[in-house]
Amino acid sequence: MSAVVQVKDVQKRFKTGEAAVTALDGVSLIVNRGEFAAVMGSSGSGKSTLLHLMGGLDRPTSGEILIDGADLARMPDRERTLFRRRRIGMVFQSYNLLPTLTALENVTLPRMLEGVNGQDCAERARSLLDRVGLSGRLSHRPQAMSGGEQQRVAVARALMMNPAILLADEPTGNLDSKHGEQIWRLLASLAREDGATVVAVTHEARGAAFADRVVVLRDGRVAGEFSPGGEEHASLVAARYAELVG
Ligand SMILES: Nc1ncnc2c1ncn2[C@@H]1O[C@H](COP(=O)(O)OP(=O)(O)OP(=O)(O)O)[C@@H](O)[C@H]1O
Ligand SMILES: [Mg+2]
Repeated sequence: MSAVVQVKDVQKRFKTGEAAVTALDGVSLIVNRGEFAAVMGSSGSGKSTLLHLMGGLDRPTSGEILIDGADLARMPDRERTLFRRRRIGMVFQSYNLLPTLTALENVTLPRMLEGVNGQDCAERARSLLDRVGLSGRLSHRPQAMSGGEQQRVAVARALMMNPAILLADEPTGNLDSKHGEQIWRLLASLAREDGATVVAVTHEARGAAFADRVVVLRDGRVAGEFSPGGEEHASLVAARYAELVG
């Protein structure tokens, strides 16, 4: 198996005024190609910090993070921006779609930023929207779509550049359980059927149950990990999680 993400003994400290916070305190983690990993942990345990570092939005205080073998922290700014745009797909709790653009235009946008446009670009966007079950919503603007639909557009947009990794921070945090489940099912099938590599932060045992692995953070460290065993095992996931966070 090949490692898409290698997190090596990463520390992240934040200084705000007098106080310093150690958000990550020696985290190591490998995510292989085609794997779907869920990251759980209580509020403040460092989940978003870890995801931001993997996505190159911030740099570790010490340690190393390699994405497809590349160390984002050592790249010059411009190279890092391009790498992030081309190789990393991100999805957030709040969808972050552009309100004036249609679903199709939102998905096409990453390619337009690359200066690529035209027919094959629109075709790829259409096929991705079809993949996430939205072929009937191409011309809808975000405000004319449900939260679940908007999040599926955001997933399609994140896949537009065919990234090495798809990172999601609480992707179902704003959704009811039915629409949340659609997103978890989608992320799992992207890994299993399309070979995508996915890391998703969540506090929902029901969502984490869809993943291949659950990694639990506690106070900025990896408290442990386990295989959830499938969507029907949410209560087991909740129990293992509770054990690990104490
Ligand atoms: N930019 C920042 N400046 C200072 N402290 C920060 C910053 N970002 C995060 N922290 C601190 O680092 C710790 C970890 O934060 P992080 O956002 O990673 O937690 P989280 O696990 O995602 O929590 P939640 O479930 O509430 O989203 C927290 O104590 C937080 O206050
Ligand atoms: Mg967070």
